[in-house]
Amino acid sequence: MEKREKLYEGKAKIMFATDDPSLLIQHFTDNATAFNGKKKGIIKNKGIINNKITAKIFSMLEEKGIPTHFVEVINDREMLVKKLDIIMVELVVRNIAAGSLANRLGIETGTELPFPIVEYYYKSDELNDPMINEWHIKYLNLATPEELQYMVDTALKVNDILKKFFDERDIKLVDFKLEFGRHDGKILLGDEFTPDGSRLWNKSDNYILDKDRFRKDLGFVEEAYEEVCRRVCGE
Ligand code: ADP
Ligand code: TMP
Ligand code: ASP
Repeated sequence: MEKREKLYEGKAKIMFATDDPSLLIQHFTDNATAFNGKKKGIIKNKGIINNKITAKIFSMLEEKGIPTHFVEVINDREMLVKKLDIIMVELVVRNIAAGSLANRLGIETGTELPFPIVEYYYKSDELNDPMINEWHIKYLNLATPEELQYMVDTALKVNDILKKFFDERDIKLVDFKLEFGRHDGKILLGDEFTPDGSRLWNKSDNYILDKDRFRKDLGFVEEAYEEVCRRVCGE
């Protein structure tokens, strides 16, 4: 596999072309942003850790029947993925109230939700990723009703699998964000699953093990990512 030109540099990852038009290289950097890029920083070795965690979680999801873009790990910071036409709707699944849900609806942070709540956000940096509903998705022509139904069903399956997976590692899966894309007429789970795009709390004391440590200047950011990596990847 030959690495070709840089196609896109985002807030945390860089996508490279390869000599195969259907495959890309996903490169994880140490760059961290929050509040739609208003806060910027570096989390040392985050790229290496996020590459490892995403590889472990996506290969485990594949084994359990969830189609993903993951092909193989190339090196410390890079993985080979199937090229997607990204659907510009981010799906957030929540098991415990935190972040914007807690703020928007006045629910105390840490309240267990009686069932998972799924939300849609329009993937648009210019607009600050606004929350949207089925009507907006139809109006903006972001996904068909069938595609949206598939993404919701898959996000809920992923939630069932990951809630158990993290529980076995003494971690509460509070919430997370997923992205999907089209590839060869199929929808695949794309992007990443990392502490950047999820909330992960230590089971016994709700100690925060995710990017909220960076967002809220809680300290011990690198240590939290390393701890998740140890528990998820067994090292
Ligand atoms: P952002 O664009 O939000 O700053 P990143 O820094 O994570 O995010 O950049 C990675 C970009 O690549 C994201 O926009 C994501 O939607 C996109 N992406 C993820 N997986 C794929 C894929 N398999 N094919 C094409 N694009 C992808
Ligand atoms: P929120 O509570 O800020 O809406 O975030 C919900 C979850 O989605 C949380 O795990 C972080 C993740 N997320 C992203 O991955 N990218 C984003 O741009 C936002 C706003 C949230
Ligand atoms: N991912 C967004 C950003 O990088 C928001 C966040 O994670 O807080 O700005």
